[in-house]
Amino acid sequence: MVDMSPFILDDLALERLFTGARSNIRFADQPVTMDTITQVWDLIKWGPTANNTVPLRIAGATSPHARARVLAHAAEGNRAKVEAAPLVLIAARDERFHDHFGVTGGTDTAAARFEGDPEARTRFAHTNAMLQTGYLIVGLRAAGLAVRPLGGFNRAGLDADLFADSPWRSEVLLLVGYPTDDHGAGDRKGRIDAADAIKEI
Ligand SMILES: Cc1cc2nc3c(=O)[nH]c(=O)nc-3n(C[C@H](O)[C@H](O)[C@H](O)COP(=O)(O)O)c2cc1C
Repeated sequence: MVDMSPFILDDLALERLFTGARSNIRFADQPVTMDTITQVWDLIKWGPTANNTVPLRIAGATSPHARARVLAHAAEGNRAKVEAAPLVLIAARDERFHDHFGVTGGTDTAAARFEGDPEARTRFAHTNAMLQTGYLIVGLRAAGLAVRPLGGFNRAGLDADLFADSPWRSEVLLLVGYPTDDHGAGDRKGRIDAADAIKEI
């Protein structure tokens, strides 16, 4: 007997969020506004993070200067992809996430502990910003957008150019645009079967 579908979203939603969504390198010739990104943030900010630290920050490389610096620091094999993207976002971690504990509900004791331990702060911010980046990718897809994440770029170089006076540190680039029929991402690679990914222990 096959179990009934456990999903509360309809098939179209599941397809748009997961099964049919690709990591596009080609996009429709249609701009993506930062207003849309703001609305996506207001959705995905509700995803859980450790201690509710919410360390993800999003820099939209909308100026010619920022766009040029992203391109300059992209790995050779990623440059044409960056150039073709309607919008480039830098998903970053805020290494001073504890400055926002007044909003996020962290205690003074935890803030003092993080203040005194920058290495722990970096680790914590990295882990949770990457977790939120996953929510962000799904949230962008929920807004009808296609996303290609890029890890191949010089983070230190990009940070020195764009975040010199800021506690933000780059994690991943996200190329964002509206999808076309031709996503340009080639044949889809396999995924791990549940039999190999899940076990009861
Ligand atoms: C953290 C991360 C880093 C990635 N870095 C790169 C990259 O540097 N260059 C690239 O072309 N694709 C990069 N990708 C894209 C992946 O190869 C792609 O998402 C994966 O193969 C799944 O493709 P699909 O969504 O079309 O099935 C990256 C994806 C993630 C999530």
